[in-house]
Amino acid sequence: MPDQKSIAHNFDLAKLPSDYVANPYPYFATLRQHAPVHRMPDGSYFLTRYDDLVSVYRNPKVWSSDKKIEFKPAMGDSALYEHHTTSLVFRDPPDHTRLRKLFQAAFTPRAIANLEPRIEKLVDGYLDKAEDNGQLDLVEDFAFMLPVEVVCDMLGAPSSERNSIRDWSQAILGGLEPVLTDGAREKGSEAVDHFKSFLRDLIRQRRANPTSGESGEVLSALIEAEEDGEKLTELELLHQCIFLLNAGHETTTNMLANGIHELLTNEEQLSKLHQNPALVESCIEEVLRFDSPIQLNNRRALEDTELGPVKIPAGSKVHLSIGGGNRDPERFDEPDRFDIERTNNKHLAFGAGVHICAGNTLARVEGRIAYSKLFSRFPGLHLSGPVVRSPRIRFKGFSNLPGSIR
Ligand code: HEM
Repeated sequence: MPDQKSIAHNFDLAKLPSDYVANPYPYFATLRQHAPVHRMPDGSYFLTRYDDLVSVYRNPKVWSSDKKIEFKPAMGDSALYEHHTTSLVFRDPPDHTRLRKLFQAAFTPRAIANLEPRIEKLVDGYLDKAEDNGQLDLVEDFAFMLPVEVVCDMLGAPSSERNSIRDWSQAILGGLEPVLTDGAREKGSEAVDHFKSFLRDLIRQRRANPTSGESGEVLSALIEAEEDGEKLTELELLHQCIFLLNAGHETTTNMLANGIHELLTNEEQLSKLHQNPALVESCIEEVLRFDSPIQLNNRRALEDTELGPVKIPAGSKVHLSIGGGNRDPERFDEPDRFDIERTNNKHLAFGAGVHICAGNTLARVEGRIAYSKLFSRFPGLHLSGPVVRSPRIRFKGFSNLPGSIR
């Protein structure tokens, strides 16, 4: 058995042990203790301390989100490269500031309040179906369904296309895994091309019929910005739409599924929620902290800098381990305990600083409505078969959670 120190010093994202996907947290604890700013064989750094993550997130002048240098060698001039280097999440100020302002309009409290009745109706519909069948796959028939419908509504994308959107999205986000294979690059690029032509049609229809109801409000706002000419180019418009469709669904699916799994395997916490449904809000925060849907963000040092005693040369890439920061005992009492009553839970599941998740309020609203209705309507809900985890490293979630309601 290798000792803890050598596990920490040999940790390499490109060669992960087989038990990492299901439970990476013991590795993060070992790294935090023995090598919190760990240099990996490719020269990049893996950070697991809460305070280090916050200081990187909060200093975009030193820590860039721009990925052109990093993605070029693996992605070449592909459509996948075009997408990931145009979307706002991978841009720095001032371009990021300009694009972020345009997004802000989509996430006002009024815009989110407008979505609430729709979210309630969607959730009721999935639960009606489950009631008829007596069972459901809690991912396929629930956690996946809701976020994709909501984000498609924001852009006014028709229901008939939602399965294609899911597949494109998975292929594009798959292109962000630590190791990019040729197959994954090609699949990702094809998906970007399909997505662009789908959106061009959608935008054409929207222009021809600009007042076609509440659905698609966000697309209309982005189109207006593009027509203004100075705020958004056509290519930027397309890639922000693709990004929104991607950012808003797999993440939220994972949040819903991770929490459902945790509650259904932790009787004590589930019964607390049954006894006091008002705990749903702190429960969502705890799910986000305890099993974060996005596990990694990245930044590149624009100048020589340091993190604690470690000197980081300009040009270095850092991996921000959100799962590591969110289990840091310096920041959270008993971090490995899932406690839906936890207070002062300032987790990093949505990042921090200028790029903090623009959809965090929406995700929380979806979580509150989904959990409240699911657990109150089906108090006997339980897992009824083997669960299947998604094999991703950057995104943590499940592909299947078979459930029975009786
Ligand atoms: C539980 C669900 C979600 C999680 C865990 C999550 C997580 C994150 C994280 C960690 C970032 C920061 C990336 C970075 O700093 O490099 C981010 C950015 C972003 N997210 Fe989310 N997200 C979720 C849901 C959503 C939803 C529902 C939407 C929209 C419909 C959304 C839209 C965005 C956007 C637009 C950005 C880019 C912000 C920027 O670069 O300024 N997210 N998200």
